[in-house]
Amino acid sequence: MQQHILIAGAGKGIGLELVKQMLLTENNIILAVSRDISQLRVMAAKVNTDSGTVRLIPIASDLAKPDFTKVLEEALAEFNFKPEIVVYNVGLLVNKPFAALSNSDFDQMFDANVKGAFRLFQFLLPHLAEGTHLLGISSMGAFQGSAKFPGLSLYSASKAALAVLMECLAEELKDRGIRANALALGAVQTEMLAKAFPGYKAPLSADEMAAFIADFAVNGSRFFNGKIIPVSVSTP
Ligand SMILES: NC(=O)c1ccc[n+]([C@@H]2O[C@H](COP(=O)([O-])OP(=O)(O)OC[C@H]3O[C@@H](n4cnc5c(N)ncnc54)[C@H](OP(=O)(O)O)[C@@H]3O)[C@@H](O)[C@H]2O)c1
Repeated sequence: MQQHILIAGAGKGIGLELVKQMLLTENNIILAVSRDISQLRVMAAKVNTDSGTVRLIPIASDLAKPDFTKVLEEALAEFNFKPEIVVYNVGLLVNKPFAALSNSDFDQMFDANVKGAFRLFQFLLPHLAEGTHLLGISSMGAFQGSAKFPGLSLYSASKAALAVLMECLAEELKDRGIRANALALGAVQTEMLAKAFPGYKAPLSADEMAAFIADFAVNGSRFFNGKIIPVSVSTP
């Protein structure tokens, strides 16, 4: 089955692997947004054909800034793109003790991790059809009762805000048949994790986690709506 899939935060790590996973299904069309789209461009050159078949549309945009909607509006119109799956995978992590966190750290993390999702989903509302699945990528650190880590207070708080936003969207959009969930990921071996926890070896690779997310994005909304689901073998 062909689907139109929008992935926000797709330039590297789990998001880039998610694009690869979604491309495995023939005819899927993926609109992939990130600030750095160099790897997405290489991928697009392989899957898009000269005869005009477009399967991957990389869009360079900073979702922490309000003006991203203009470039997205143009792309939706040009490719007649009607998102059926939207994954908000954008993540920014500043690892600092609570006492050292600045207002700028707060703004950077909340702009990327929460405000971008708010703006993206609000912008997309008129473009979403019945059956659409909205998925927020949150973190185990944001899951109530889970183990917490020093240095991640604001990051975890921002990811908790994203998760609850997804719960609330499920409620507000239920009459339109739109479903929304959040996945609270445990540790995955990516650039973000390596920077935050140098030397730590995560139990899962980005491609393994992306395979799970891809399957959940396609099939999970039949079984889950308005849920924050822990996806972790590493943290209690
Ligand atoms: N790795 C883990 O252990 C772990 C655990 C729990 C949750 N997560 C979450 O999983 C998601 C993926 O993380 P990852 O480990 O793959 O990290 P990553 O490699 O740093 O990827 C983060 C993604 O977000 C994009 N991004 C960041 N700021 C952006 C902005 N302002 N506008 C547009 N795109 C932006 C990045 O691309 P550009 O830099 O090109 O923009 C990249 O594609 C994140 O939401 C993260 O919080 C990860």
